[in-house]
Amino acid sequence: RWISLACGGLSGGVTGSAMGQIGYAIAPMIAGGIMLGPDQPVILHLLDISPAAEALNGVKMELLDGAFPLLKEVHATTDVTEACKDVNIAIMLGGFPRKEGMERKDMMSKNVPIYKEQASALEEHAASDCKVLVVANPANTNALILKEFAPSIPEENITCLTRLDHNRALSQIAERLKVYVTDVKNVIIWGNHSSTQYPDVNHATVTTTNGERLVKELDTDDHWLKNEFINTVQQRGAAIIKARKSSSALSAASAACDHMRDWVLGTPKGTWVSMGVYSDGSYGIPKDIIYSFPVKCEKGKWSIVKGLKIDDFSRAKMDATAKDLIDEKEVAHSCLN
Ligand code: NAD
Ligand code: LMR
Repeated sequence: RWISLACGGLSGGVTGSAMGQIGYAIAPMIAGGIMLGPDQPVILHLLDISPAAEALNGVKMELLDGAFPLLKEVHATTDVTEACKDVNIAIMLGGFPRKEGMERKDMMSKNVPIYKEQASALEEHAASDCKVLVVANPANTNALILKEFAPSIPEENITCLTRLDHNRALSQIAERLKVYVTDVKNVIIWGNHSSTQYPDVNHATVTTTNGERLVKELDTDDHWLKNEFINTVQQRGAAIIKARKSSSALSAASAACDHMRDWVLGTPKGTWVSMGVYSDGSYGIPKDIIYSFPVKCEKGKWSIVKGLKIDDFSRAKMDATAKDLIDEKEVAHSCLN
């Protein structure tokens, strides 16, 4: 079976930024099998807004010229209905990125309405099993709005990207402990993909020649773990904007591939990842928000890892980022009214 994917926000052109940065980075990754594996043929639907139609067609030409063996069809369109038609996966990139000095929620008034509109198109035209990944910021709240305006899409099929933060946390630990990033696992990003997110290393481990060791045993500098580490991960997006004058793109595209691959094909045994999902009240987090939890995936379904011990430090940070999401939800609703 071929998998049909919609990628919204692909060609760029209207924002004056680098031509739909994440879209341009992710399209060849999907076509090359990085997202869904080397045996999975794909059909790509590329969506952008009318002023970007010509540039979008240019991206289509490049994808065809790539002669990717797995890429069976490419449809470029500015019609959201056509873009969503029968898709099994929707990667939602459309929207505006923040600039230096802004918080991600500062794009709320521009980006939230897009998700209301695209929710209806997905609900009416996507395949009934469509899995949705919202990347555009504020990612959790855009995903929540999409969920609210697409009530017939199962809530477990609507997620947002916090895998980039998860990968950033893994790489910070690997650098610090001078190990390979593949040796580190089970960090957690709790909450919002914003500067209130809580990168948690309490359960993270490193594979050593003496077996699995807790990061906390290998790095006993509690001050670093509770301060610099957390701040660096929370502020990494801003640091990239400052350095590149443009928000992260290749790492975001790569993280989106990781998110979808693990969701569809499963997480490795003994490993969890972070995903923004609709809260079921686990760990005392309020329901009705899209919150990042540790999840394991199997047979195309994610489930929250239960029973992890939460200390007082973590509790306070998990609650603070939940509150941030509740506040964002209110602002999002006021943007729509
Ligand atoms: P960009 O400006 O380069 O591209 C955005 C694209 O969206 C443009 O091509 C624009 O024309 C298109 N677009 C605008 N409105 C649209 C609509 N209604 N329908 C379809 N397309 C539309 O931005 P980018 O750097 O690719 O980033 C995209 C989004 O992803 C931003 O909101 C950014 O903040 C966010 N982001 C999130 C993460 C994360 O980890 N969650 C990481 C990086 C970036
Ligand atoms: C990121 O984390 O790099 C993105 O969300 C872009 C941003 O605005 O920080």
